[in-house]
Order: sequence, then structure tokens, then C-alpha cells
Amino acid sequence: MKNELIQTIVRTWLAHAESKTPWIDPALASGAEFAASDYADPAHLVLEQERLFARLPQAVALTADVPDAGSYVTRDQFDVPLIISRGSDGVVRALANVCAHRGGQVVESDRGCARRHACAYHAWTYDPAGTLVGVPDHGSFPSVQVPGPGLKPVPCVESDGVIWVVPDVAAGGADLAAPDLGVTATDFAHFDIGGHEHWRSYRFDLAMNWKLVVDTFLEPYHFASLHRNTVGPIFFPNLCYADRHGPFVRHLIPRRSVAELADQPPETWDIVPHTALVYVLFPATVFVMQIDHIEVWRVWPQGDDPGRCWCDLDFYIPIGPRTESSERHWENNWRLTIDTVEHEDFRAMAGVQRGVASGAIDAVRFGANEPALIMYHEALSAALA
Ligand code: FES
Ligand SMILES: [Fe+2]
Repeated sequence: MKNELIQTIVRTWLAHAESKTPWIDPALASGAEFAASDYADPAHLVLEQERLFARLPQAVALTADVPDAGSYVTRDQFDVPLIISRGSDGVVRALANVCAHRGGQVVESDRGCARRHACAYHAWTYDPAGTLVGVPDHGSFPSVQVPGPGLKPVPCVESDGVIWVVPDVAAGGADLAAPDLGVTATDFAHFDIGGHEHWRSYRFDLAMNWKLVVDTFLEPYHFASLHRNTVGPIFFPNLCYADRHGPFVRHLIPRRSVAELADQPPETWDIVPHTALVYVLFPATVFVMQIDHIEVWRVWPQGDDPGRCWCDLDFYIPIGPRTESSERHWENNWRLTIDTVEHEDFRAMAGVQRGVASGAIDAVRFGANEPALIMYHEALSAALA
């Protein structure tokens, strides 16, 4: 982020912290209302599946997930199971995890690094680019070319440290343009995503609409109440900064420690140590830069049920020596993240889901103090129109 903008944001925060008023985007000063049924109506979910999940590029992994030739992760969030794999040419591809023989699941582990992938069923074997390189008793399959076409590619691009796919087998390996992240691209370069490594993942099975997971990250209005006994006191309550480039929302939430910057020369200010930096990788992935680690939250609906979703959390830490005390640090960090979100945010959101599905309210109301929520839902409306 440019120092000029950091100075503007920090000065704005300090002034609002002093006056105990929220920052407001003048263009969104009236707040906004969205239909409560957007969270509960099966027909709305059908539209979202078609216009958001099937068509748009989805952020499914980071460069840090596949650092080397042969590195891979698997993803099972789409109808087509995928292997995200870096080839010996350095290129990241998204391949259907579906064996060309009879459809077996070729890679069964979540992640790893391998020169070859052998299907467990009959051991047809593929290289990291998906090429079929081995068929036992090849003579019995005279029409099968080895080496030859193997795992079907889907459109995939690696850009700004993020790997995007369109989960459409019919599109084959068609080129995918890198999404234009605007200001987010500059921020991501600064975060040195490639200098991180995956530490741990966790899957949440949630009784709520998928958008409520994203909403969780888009306002600090709830910190003083919902998180009063956990992370709330670390942050200035009800204070943020948000902007939007196309559908990509950037939402910055200041920690109280930002006040320390006032004693330092403004041209040296860095807000990363003093801020939770939230980026919506539209439509359904949330990237959070926290002081010393990265969290990526991927969310997707459970089939045709608007009241259920899955959410995978991937947690990344800076590459460096692992010691007993560093392990303890990450373990504590991890526990705080999971516990806060599971016992506070997601618990509240499960209540919201029952509320919006009850018919008791027609609309959900986003205040002028919740600009990132308004920006995100306006971007959703635009994409669904
Ligand atoms: S299904 Fe994969 S080798 Fe037979
Ligand atoms: Fe929260």
C-alpha cells in the first residue's frame, strides 16, 4: 500500500478514535438494505450457483500452496474434483482429479509434492502436468497413447500470489485472464505471499448461507459486543476503512496499537502490524493478512440448500526455522482463530440464518458504519443482474 494512503488512513483512524465516531464512506452515508430472502431463497441460490460459482474465476489456493515443481493441493469444493499442480515447467495447472481409465480418484491426499501420480485402482500414472505417462499392460489398451492426454485441465491462472480456476471441464485448458485486483495487487506484493508456507487447514460444516461467512469479516461493528471477551479489546470498535475495485473489496480494521504510529515518522508507517487486512477475492474467498500470518477462508454452498455451506480455512505462516516456541505460538494463534470464529461469529451467524429464513424480517440493514458489507453486496447484486 502506498505510504501516502497509509498516512491518510491512519490519520483518519486516529481522529475517529479520538472522537469515538465510525469512519464513513460519503457515498454510502445512508447505509443500505438487502432482501433477507437473499440468504434463504433456494431460487436465489440457483442464480448464484450459475452466475457466481460456475462462471467466475474462483480463488482456490495461494502460490504458497504449490511452491515447487511437483507440488500439489486437491480441492473438492466443485462438482469436478481438482488437483492444483505445479509442473516441471513451473506452470500451475488445475486438473480434474479423475482418472482417464475409469474415473478413479487419482490423488487422494490433500497436498504434497510428487514427480508422478498413480491411480490407486489400476495404477495408471500421470506427471504433474496431467500427462498420462504409464499404463500397466499397455498392450491391452491399443488405442491409448502413452505419453498422451491424461487428466483433463480446467481454466487456471496464477497471479498476484493467488491461483484462480473456473471449474468447467467443458472449457478444457482455455486461457484464463488474471482477475484485475487493482489496489489489492499492490498490497499482495507487499505481503510476500510466496514467502509463506501452509501450516494447517480446518473444515467447517455450517448451518448458514454461504454469504454469512463472508459477511462475518466485513464489519467491526460487532467487535465490542460479540467479541468483548476475546479479540474485541485488541481493536478499535466500530472503526474501519473500506474501498472496492470492481467486485474486490478491501476492508481494513485497526488494532488499538495503531496509535503507536503517532510517535514514528509518517514516511515509515506500515499498517500491517496494526491492522487486520481483509480482502474479498470475489465471489467467495476471503483473504486475511494478520500481523504475522495469512488466513484464507473458502466458502461454498452445500448443494441446493441455501441454509448450509462448507468453509475451509487455510492458515499460512512465514517460512522460517521451526522451534518449540514457534510451534506453541502458532498453535495458540490457531486456537484463538478457530475458537473465536466458531464459538462467536459462526454461532451468531447460525442464529442470523434462522432469523432471515423465518419471514420475520424482510430486509437486513447495513449501516453507514459497515461500508465493506454494502460494497460486497452491491458487487453481488451487480454480478447477479
Ligand atoms: S480407474 Fe484409474 S487406473 Fe483404473
Ligand atoms: Fe467477528
